[in-house]
Amino acid sequence: MSGLILPPNPPARPLRAAVLASGRGSNLLALLAESKAGRLPNVEFALVLSNLPGAGALEIAQREGIPGLCVHHRSYGKDREAHEAAIIRELEARRIDFLILAGYMRLLTPVLVGAFAGRMINIHPSLLPAFAGIHAQSQAHAYGVKVAGCTAHFVTLGMDEGPIIAQRAVPAYPTDTEADLSARILAEEHRALPLAVDLFSRDRLRVVGRRVVVLRGPGSYPELEPDLRPVAPLFVATGNAHKLGEISAILGDLPLYIQGTDLFPGAPEPDENGSTYIANAQIKARAWGERTGAWTLADDSGLEVDALDGRPGIHSSRYAPTAAERNARMLAELDGVPDEKRTARFACTVVLRSTDGREFHASGTCEGHIAHGPRGAAGFGYDPIFVPDGFDGAHLAELGDEVKNRISHRARALAGLREALRELTD
Ligand code: GRF
Repeated sequence: MSGLILPPNPPARPLRAAVLASGRGSNLLALLAESKAGRLPNVEFALVLSNLPGAGALEIAQREGIPGLCVHHRSYGKDREAHEAAIIRELEARRIDFLILAGYMRLLTPVLVGAFAGRMINIHPSLLPAFAGIHAQSQAHAYGVKVAGCTAHFVTLGMDEGPIIAQRAVPAYPTDTEADLSARILAEEHRALPLAVDLFSRDRLRVVGRRVVVLRGPGSYPELEPDLRPVAPLFVATGNAHKLGEISAILGDLPLYIQGTDLFPGAPEPDENGSTYIANAQIKARAWGERTGAWTLADDSGLEVDALDGRPGIHSSRYAPTAAERNARMLAELDGVPDEKRTARFACTVVLRSTDGREFHASGTCEGHIAHGPRGAAGFGYDPIFVPDGFDGAHLAELGDEVKNRISHRARALAGLREALRELTD
């Protein structure tokens, strides 16, 4: 489904990993130590593969009882593609699910990168995009940086350019030798790489453009995860960018990844034919929840004007074609109505639907009155002609997003869902 972020769906069996290494293999050793300690429960180390016969990593594999294999690049001369094709044959024969590049010192071609797109993780000894390429630690040392570090990232064609999964920073001191700095960085590589591998193997990573979003879920490194701010996906059944922005801001303190219906351009909107806010919110939450399979939030709201016997209420967005026309019609209908009879409220009901179809709902109102003309540029809809109680006659559209998102009908309704949302974010 187009870019939709869904909760982790870890495989029923451990993923078979191949570690590709050209050197001494300290990262391999760190991974194996973590695995032995039970911290990489979804990973089976099925192969260590090197392009160099004497690689320390191969000795480690032998010592640890893991199949090791050398596919020497020299046998293929300058033909990198043929070398990689031979590697891929070995990987496929061993049903390898994903690759870990731990000091694999070969430039990759589209052959290997394409075969394992989205399934290849590299550890690089710098805070990318600084100091890509070889000798990253000596580049950082020579440059005199004050902070250095390492990056675990997905591999794409550009060298050290793929989406970043995790970075760990270390201080760099003017008195450091290159070896001092390298050792400090290496210690963090041994944490960042297992972390990235653990998250990947639990299906907790989602790539959004260049960004990697980490989803909440069980993991082996709770002490390292806060830096990545793991989030839970929440689909909001609205294509109204203003509404989506408000809901995102109101729930901004919660670790959620919020997406709206703009992900599905041209998708049919459900018929909002209910006669109450809750009925319409339910129609939207159910239709979009079933379509996406995600936790889904929907709201329905309206403006209730006492002098109009509560109209336009649930018909507020259909009262006239555009917001300006709706406001003009409202002012015309209330022409000559004195201030004390212009009382009104915004009302909102929100429905939250879990992936297994349970529903939670809550409502909120914001009391005030209808002004005699529009004022202010913030907010949207009827905000320019609505004067909330308690703000010295300021129109809602003059109060700004921060205030609106504290006092609005939507904010108050959403406050009633916080307890239910904890199931998603705890
Ligand atoms: C590490 O610094 C890694 O970041 C880089 O190569 C080095 C490999 O070290 N790509 P080791 O073989 O894991 O000890």
